[in-house]
Amino acid sequence: MDLEALPPARWAQHVAALWCDRLVAQPTLRQCLPTGATPTPVYDEMAGRVAHGAVSFAASEVFLLDEFGGLPPDDPARCETMLRRDLLDHVDLPEDRFHRLDPDVADVDRACRTFEDRVRSGGLDLIILGLGGNGHLGLNEPGSARDAATRRVDLAPQTRERSRSYGAGRAPSWGVTLGLAPILAAREVWLLVTGAHKAEVLQRVLTAPIGPALPGTFLREHPSVRVLADTEALSAQLP
Ligand code: PGA
Repeated sequence: MDLEALPPARWAQHVAALWCDRLVAQPTLRQCLPTGATPTPVYDEMAGRVAHGAVSFAASEVFLLDEFGGLPPDDPARCETMLRRDLLDHVDLPEDRFHRLDPDVADVDRACRTFEDRVRSGGLDLIILGLGGNGHLGLNEPGSARDAATRRVDLAPQTRERSRSYGAGRAPSWGVTLGLAPILAAREVWLLVTGAHKAEVLQRVLTAPIGPALPGTFLREHPSVRVLADTEALSAQLP
């Protein structure tokens, strides 16, 4: 696991620069992306770089990591809404190269299997993750097994609460998420963590026993993980 800590003012540019380099080196990058507050400034930076012609998403594939269930299509907290608003509406990714889990279909289990099959056929070159305040990855809440498939999940109270800060009209009780098994099968993982409020959970992810109580700990078993933090989130680890 590689740990990097940037000053908060430089963090988003740093992550965007790395991501640009990755896309320029491999324009067909198959990438899975998170939503939430953490990646938003990085997406903003990327949109600027695409606008200036420094990088293109045109030949890449984007998979959306997770989605809340039971929210109306226009709810601002829907992960698809957030990713479109923060990134996709501003970059040149063709619509047919965007893949998402649809929580509104009659057979959600089948939709999850189809999505995971699509992820696995070709695999993910890069998965970018945020870290939940409770240590979740995607919506793989505490209690999720290392081999968890893509599935419908009940949300932890903290996650429900968090959705309100994204503007949810009412807090969702369930969601769909790429499972820990396909997340950990990605060739490369970047974990984005910012802010002093994440310092404690990040420290636990880095030091607690590896297991379902804190899904983020499973990343320590992955051969290629970069923790891209700001100095506030990594403060507990710094001398
Ligand atoms: P946040 O969410 O970026 O809004 O803190 C992170 C997550 O739950 O994965």
